[in-house]
Amino acid sequence: MTQTLKNDRFLRALRREPVDCTPVWLMRQAGRYLPEYRASRAKAGSFLAMAKNPELACEVTLQPLERFDLDAAILFSDILTIPDAMGLGLYFVDGEGPKFERPVRDAAAIAKLGMPDMETELGYVMDAVRVIRRELDGRVPLIGFSGSPWTLACYMVEGGGSKDFARIKALAHNDPKALHALLSVNTDAVIAYLAAQRAAGAQALQVFDTWGGVLSPAMYREFSLPYLARIAHELERGEGAERTPLIVFGRGNAAYLEDLAASGAEGVGVDWLVELGEAARRTGGRVAVQGNLDPATLYGSPEAIRREVRRALDSWRDGNGGSREGHVFNLGHGMSPDMDPEHVRVLVDEVHAHSRR
Ligand code: CP3
Repeated sequence: MTQTLKNDRFLRALRREPVDCTPVWLMRQAGRYLPEYRASRAKAGSFLAMAKNPELACEVTLQPLERFDLDAAILFSDILTIPDAMGLGLYFVDGEGPKFERPVRDAAAIAKLGMPDMETELGYVMDAVRVIRRELDGRVPLIGFSGSPWTLACYMVEGGGSKDFARIKALAHNDPKALHALLSVNTDAVIAYLAAQRAAGAQALQVFDTWGGVLSPAMYREFSLPYLARIAHELERGEGAERTPLIVFGRGNAAYLEDLAASGAEGVGVDWLVELGEAARRTGGRVAVQGNLDPATLYGSPEAIRREVRRALDSWRDGNGGSREGHVFNLGHGMSPDMDPEHVRVLVDEVHAHSRR
């Protein structure tokens, strides 16, 4: 797989091998900030219709690669496909984000949850991976992904997005056994889901622990970290140069860098609340690090964007014993619909120019 790639910088950086310049991709690189995405979405009728149609999912996956010199593609899909396939009924309300018709809020509802079948209920995701791999034709590697067990549980219990996570935190305090049962089913499903994406052709895998950072340290160590580690240990992903790297990304995970470096994952994704130099020192070469520009930097001028890109790249090098290896450049979280595509070009080109070895 690796040998047939025309650009394998991203996979090499995840193995902490030398690269000609630092690879870059952006979380939510396909999305509403691109006019061509909005056109595809209008054609499909809705986000979900697009995500469930492998040809359209492929079309929007490739759109940012046609414009920018990105070093990886990410499957166009969503983390909430798993709970949707478990029967919770995913839908989107414009301006309000994702919602579930049938949230799970107690031990009885949790006990009824079953593992979805990856090639039937989630077959549209695997078909999208296969179509994208064919159309990419080795240009760059394809990243598959999943939500973390905790982050999926947040949406499943809250029934949608949340500001205070009141329902799931109440469940954690009042019936921790039920929450662990939910996290355990989710972990089994995530492992099967990532394994199926890998079998379909995904060349790297990322777990989004978007909401890990809303937990106290004690609760993070009980309800999120052990499940991330179980995924890293149980997910079969090959050996040596053929190993499919796993990245665990989390918002607000800076307090846990040492734990995440020991989790068994090949890469750790961080947000902008930690300096990359500090992340380099604290992970000590045990994993590659991905990140971490504040996405709002893209609202700045081209000059401000170039300055912040250089600062982040140099921070990594300085904390990493003077070496630029082991770093994948990214934002610290996803892009927003009102961002200027031309600013993305400035960012991507500056990453490559400033890090050229
Ligand atoms: O990064 C990429 O380009 C790949 C595609 C991708 C999407 N969602 C597409 C999408 C990925 C990796 C995700 C993951 C995802 N989905 C996460 C984890 C990462 C993160 O952002 O924290 C979460 C929490 C979700 C749940 C979800 N799905 C939210 C909060 C939203 C946004 C709702 C909104 O209106 O902004 C979605 C919908 C969604 N997923 C969109 C996209 C491009 C916007 C849909 C649209 O209206 O076109």
